[in-house]
Order: sequence, then C-alpha cells, then structure tokens
Amino acid sequence: MSPRTIAVEPFDIVVFGATGDLARRKLFPSLYHRWHDGQMPDEARITGVSRRKMTDAEFRAYAAAALADHVAPIDREGDAVERFVARMRYVAADADAEAGWSEIATVLQTDPRPVRVFYLATGPDLFGPICARLKAIGLNNHGARVVVEKPIGKSLASARAVNDAIASAFPESRVYRIDHYLGKETVQNLMALRFANALFEPLWNAAHIDHVQITVAETLGVEGRAGYYDTAGALRDMVQNHMLQLLCLTAMEPPPSLDADAVRDEKLKVLRALKPILEADNEPIVRGQYRAGASSGGPVPGYLEELGDPTSHTETFVALRAEIANWRWAGVPFFLRTGKRLPTRVSEIVITFRSIPHSVFGPDAGPIAANRLVMRLQPDEGVKLWLMIKDPGPGGMRLRQVPLNMGFAETFGGRNPDAYERLLMDVVRGNQTLFMRRDEVEAAWTWIDPILAGWAGSTLAPKPYTAGTWGPSAAIAMIERSGRTWHEEDE
Ligand code: BG6
Repeated sequence: MSPRTIAVEPFDIVVFGATGDLARRKLFPSLYHRWHDGQMPDEARITGVSRRKMTDAEFRAYAAAALADHVAPIDREGDAVERFVARMRYVAADADAEAGWSEIATVLQTDPRPVRVFYLATGPDLFGPICARLKAIGLNNHGARVVVEKPIGKSLASARAVNDAIASAFPESRVYRIDHYLGKETVQNLMALRFANALFEPLWNAAHIDHVQITVAETLGVEGRAGYYDTAGALRDMVQNHMLQLLCLTAMEPPPSLDADAVRDEKLKVLRALKPILEADNEPIVRGQYRAGASSGGPVPGYLEELGDPTSHTETFVALRAEIANWRWAGVPFFLRTGKRLPTRVSEIVITFRSIPHSVFGPDAGPIAANRLVMRLQPDEGVKLWLMIKDPGPGGMRLRQVPLNMGFAETFGGRNPDAYERLLMDVVRGNQTLFMRRDEVEAAWTWIDPILAGWAGSTLAPKPYTAGTWGPSAAIAMIERSGRTWHEEDE
C-alpha cells in the first residue's frame, strides 16, 4: 500500500528521548521508510538527544540495530541502512543541566535546513523543561515545530499545565500533538468514505443510524509498562485520546475543507456536545481488570500479579455508552470498548443502520438484519458493508446477510505504512490536520475528569475478567439492556 511519494523539503529533526522505545520502534523505522521511498530527501538530518553518553558512531550503530529489528529485510537490501544512518548524529543533553544544549544549537545552525522539527519522545514532565531550554538558546524560532506525544496530562488541570509550558516557547500553530490513531490508514479512510462518496452522508444521522460501536481490543497485557500503566488505566491511556478521536471523526459535521482548523473545529464541537456520564445513570460505564487466564495460546498472569500490587484499582478494560447532544445524533448511543488481554486484536468502528420499517417477505425468508458498515482499522484493514441478499437457487425467497468486502491489502497490495510515517511527513509539510489542537485535548479531559473523580471516590474495585475473554459480563449486559449486542465478525 505504499503511497505515491512527493519529496518533502530538506529538514532537521531532533529527537529527544533518542534511546527510548518509541524512537527505536517507531520513529527511526518510519523515517527510514520515508527516505527509502524517496520522500525524505538526502539532505535531511536526524539528531538524537538523550542523557546517555554516546558517540555519533555508537548512535548510528544503535539506530541500525533498531532498523534491523523493525524493518523487513526486503526493505533493507544492500547498503541502504548504512547510507541512511550516515545522516544521524548524537548529542548528550539533560533538560536539567546546561551541558549539551549549545552543541545542539551548533549542529542545527551549521548549514541549517529549511524545516526544523523537535520531537519530544520523552515523558510529559520533560516537555516544559525542554521547551524552555530551546527557547533560551533561541531554537524555538524560524518556524521550528515541536511534536509531543500523549499522555498530555492526567486530568484537565495537568493537561493545561503541560500545554501552558509548551505554549511559552511555541505558538499553537507550531505544536503537533500526536495521536497515532489519526495516522492509521482506515481512520483517514473514514473521512474519504464519508466525504468522497455521496452515498453515506445523507444517511449519517439519527434518522437512519441505530447506534455506533467503537472497539479497540488488544491481546497484549501491560508488557513491562505496568509502572506507567498503573498511573493511567484504560480510560486515560486509550479512551481520552484514541477512542474519542475516532468518535469525533465518525460524528463530526462535514468540515468545509480539510484545513487543519476546519477539521479540528468540527471535532471540538463533538467533544463539547458529549453528554456527561454519570455512573448512577443506568451504569453507562463498566471498568474491568484482567485476572489470570489464557492469551495467544498460553497461560498469562493477572494484572495484579504483573504489577506486583494486589491493591491496585487501575482498569485494564472500559466499556461505555456515550451520547452526543446535538440534532444529528440525539438518541443514538455510541458504545465504546477497549481492553488489554481480550481474545483477539481488533480495532473497528461499526455503524449499525436502522432496521427496515416493514418486511414484504414471509416468515420463510428468515430474519432481516439491519445493515452494518464495518470499518476495520487493524488488522486486515478494510471496509465491509453488510447487506441482505437473496440466497441463490430456486428454493423460494430466503434472505441472507452478506458483506460487500473491500480488504485494503487485496485491493492495493504492498506494504501498509505505519501511522508515524504519515504523521512525521505531515509535520515537515506543516499540515496539522491530523494532530490534536489544545482545545480538543482539554475538551476531552473535561468529559473524562468527572468519570475519574467518580471512580476515585468509590471503594468498588474494577470488575474482574479472565484474560482472553471479552471483558466483564457487565459490559455485555450494558449493551444488551439497550436491545443491541456487540458486533462479532461474520455473525
Ligand atoms: C498506545 C497505548 O497509545 O496505543 C498502548 O499507550 C496501546 O497502551 C497502543 O497498546 C495501541 O496502539 P496500536 O497502534 O497498537 O493499536
């Protein structure tokens, strides 16, 4: 699926946290692919920064090892990796100390490239100090952009503090808050599907849609990240950002254009129209925590054992019913669910249309299911539209539900680029459409904060579920009480 490539301008990218997991697994491989495909020009330079002392040669060897782990051999033929890492250099610097910062300035000011990007692949506690240092040495000027990752805060108040610290060095027009879900192909396809086809938009409202489901299920547990995860939980880790972004793109009004603010204005309106969730209100939210069970064919420990703390109330699963209080969506439930150690890895958005008002078929035709549009984000990216058709043959009018099926791998072939590839090139191009604006992040926290406060004030533990199952039974009861069921593939 490699896209047609148009080379971007030569750029300098400085990666803070260059020896961390994100840089190794995502940033270096993504930059490599963009270079290999001819989109990142040869003049582009990558400067790694972290506290650890390292020479340029050691850093290049480190990056080459990361590429060996995360880039397929077919994309690393000949001396390509060697030629790529030749553009990398390294500076040791610490946000808390003077050393190293003037060296970063010297590197960048020697034959400067037209575009300058600072990627903060660090914990959010360092965003403020790094931005302050960059400002102090004048590197925040000349159109320099800063890229930050979630978590942006743990609450509205802390998100504001992080955003203020960034804003003291970079104007909003040069801040790129990454939500990597927005870089996924199918997520962008949601916009293509809605706004490049005349078919769906007239039906995209409460008159024709019964409900929407958004599922992001993972088979993995917390994988050595228990320290971070226990301070976050599924609501902060997945719902506040990725899942609400998916909900926004599904529910927003058509923007007048794909300009960054045109799209983000519409997403913001959705976030502001979300009805507050009250726990007492017919339990529209369920939080769970996995116990020992089986996953990917083997036994796995429970969350509390992995964490080594039997008292934690951190949720590894959330299912909730959201409602959007506006004319388009009034009364249409949006069911969201996400969790670790679920039976399969699948992320999808399912739009269930309303049932037909009257059947002209007799009882022999069988039940007539409502149409469903399933947008599969991963794995097996694609779109399926489930329709009723007649079973072939002379045996009378029997109806069956069959999908119109477009799998992207079969349709387009080739490699499916990682979300970071697209997003990194968007930063260089100066396109903020797929990045979260400050007011969006804060509006999402405004909706999330009361849920967290409700949990914090409760002595109830999350509901247990066995690893390898679809979460606590309360999550199934929650949707079934409304007369609907969670979507199951090929049902
Ligand atoms: C991250 C979360 O943002 O997204 C992780 O912190 C989660 O906990 C990951 O596993 C899921 O991303 P993807 O792209 O694998 O679906």
